[in-house]
Amino acid sequence: MTDTTSPAAPSGPAATGTAASATSADDATRASGAHGSDLRRVTVLGTGVLGAQIAFQAAYSGSTVTAYDVSDEALEAGRARFTGLAATYLTPQGLRGATEEATQEALGRLSYSSDLAEAVADADLVIEAVPEHLGLKRDLYSRLAPLLPERTVLATNSSTLLPSALADATGRPDRFLALHFANLIWINNTAEVMGTTETSPEVYERVVEFARGMGMVPIELKKEQPGYVLNSLLVPLLNAASALLVKGVAEPETVDTTWRIGTGAPFGPFQIMDVIGLRTVHAVSVAGGPEGEAFAEIIQRDYLDHGKTGRESGAGFYTYAE
Ligand SMILES: NC(=O)c1ccc[n+]([C@@H]2O[C@H](COP(=O)([O-])OP(=O)(O)OC[C@H]3O[C@@H](n4cnc5c(N)ncnc54)[C@H](O)[C@@H]3O)[C@@H](O)[C@H]2O)c1
Repeated sequence: MTDTTSPAAPSGPAATGTAASATSADDATRASGAHGSDLRRVTVLGTGVLGAQIAFQAAYSGSTVTAYDVSDEALEAGRARFTGLAATYLTPQGLRGATEEATQEALGRLSYSSDLAEAVADADLVIEAVPEHLGLKRDLYSRLAPLLPERTVLATNSSTLLPSALADATGRPDRFLALHFANLIWINNTAEVMGTTETSPEVYERVVEFARGMGMVPIELKKEQPGYVLNSLLVPLLNAASALLVKGVAEPETVDTTWRIGTGAPFGPFQIMDVIGLRTVHAVSVAGGPEGEAFAEIIQRDYLDHGKTGRESGAGFYTYAE
């Protein structure tokens, strides 16, 4: 297909970037560190991509945060992520209104532990962001159950596992739910809140308030739904777009132009895929039945084999200026 330079591309996964920019939480609240929630002492389990972002944003908005990971080496990597985030917040791609002083204060509110009992001993809220494996999460919850103070609320950031698949392992299903953040949470600042039938409504509300206090726009789900709200909308759109390409009905630019003009959305589905990254799109498509496999072949042959991995590499379905 012809390369064109995209109109202003989103700076994060468009999956959430477009929605967030329309309804962003008040920047002043996020920048001031004002935090109205009673869940002030937070422990984040896992200091990887998302865990580090959650911990840093929570600390930035005023929570006292303990970051837990399996080893001192893993915590070192986490520490480097926090320093990186503190620097990123001050860049044009960072958090609007962020100041050097506030990022330093956030770093000062973070402490580190590779001892699970110590990490959760005084937690009001524990947010789990460990790898996306059912067995690993259930095992961690079973070890956590006897260590958690009675009052502690536990939340999972899992993208694909329903909280009901984990609830019994926690030993506190009434104080357990999903609190799902998006990558680049300071930009894509939605927090999807999804309980099980056993989650206490009072706990649910407190977590909604916590998310708001953290500068997120809480997305309240009334029942469990795989993919939450965002991916329940986005995945069918992306699948429909890829099917139009696979069947030879229309080129990506045609599909995107139609979507932008027809709906007023700033980005079409192929522009969104460029932001998600074509490696991820490929990995998901391979597992998506015959049509998904055919789309994965196109992505591999026409894009990945030429180093076009999407927005991050400067080229994907479109080429990008900088
Ligand atoms: N990456 C994303 O874009 C994204 C977006 C939303 C939600 N999530 C969800 O967040 C969770 C974490 O994803 P990620 O991308 O941050 O993963 P990651 O691989 O970047 O980080 C996982 C971290 O967990 C640590 N860990 C491993 N085993 C552990 C254990 N038993 N106890 C404590 N820590 C352990 C690892 O050392 C690592 O620091 C997953 O459930 C994922 O679905 C990810």
